[in-house]
Amino acid sequence: MATVFNGLSFLQQRNSMPKLTGPGPDADELEQMLLCALRSPDHARLRPWRFVSFQGQRRHAFGELLRDSLLRRDPEADQTAQDRALNAPLRAPLLIAVIASFTEHPKVPAWEQRMSAGCAAFSLTLAAEALDYGAIWRTGAFAEDSQLLRDIGGADNEEFVGFVYIGRRDCQPKPVPTLATDDFHRAW
Ligand SMILES: Cc1cc2nc3c(=O)[nH]c(=O)nc-3n(C[C@H](O)[C@H](O)[C@H](O)COP(=O)(O)O)c2cc1C
Repeated sequence: MATVFNGLSFLQQRNSMPKLTGPGPDADELEQMLLCALRSPDHARLRPWRFVSFQGQRRHAFGELLRDSLLRRDPEADQTAQDRALNAPLRAPLLIAVIASFTEHPKVPAWEQRMSAGCAAFSLTLAAEALDYGAIWRTGAFAEDSQLLRDIGGADNEEFVGFVYIGRRDCQPKPVPTLATDDFHRAW
């Protein structure tokens, strides 16, 4: 398992990759990435995250659920749109649905738990890059569909925070934008 982790430069150069191909991570690499996600900041240790991964042929079954979701949202969706939904999970060899799983807590409101699950999603992208894969976090209308969430085993106290696509990079990485910290930060 080759790692390319190199501290600050690694973080500063992180770059989402929309075009991904196989081979994807093996079971050990998936386990390593999930272990990284499980170290996300987590107020009161509520563990407000769940992960559902799709690989191989199971991506087709998930694509059918995406098409169902599309047709619930838009019963008139044409064949092109339906095919796009069917094929969406095939854009990477590994797709991980990241789910925020909420617990009632007097000191930890839902937004904190959602943020924590978001950190887990981001951590998955970082872990993927550390293993020399490309990754991208996507949402879209599917991420708003509570029926889709239930279709993959989600519960009423849960919601999607996104879908992390992971695989081998299949195009040149885009240039990383150069941003000036002064535009976003001031010392008080
Ligand atoms: C919550 C969230 C949802 C996103 N949803 C999508 C999406 O549905 N489709 C997409 O192309 N990019 C989406 N993005 C953006 C990409 O993950 C990525 O940030 C973007 O392609 C820019 O690349 P960069 O992160 O390397 O700058 C989303 C990002 C976040 C944080």
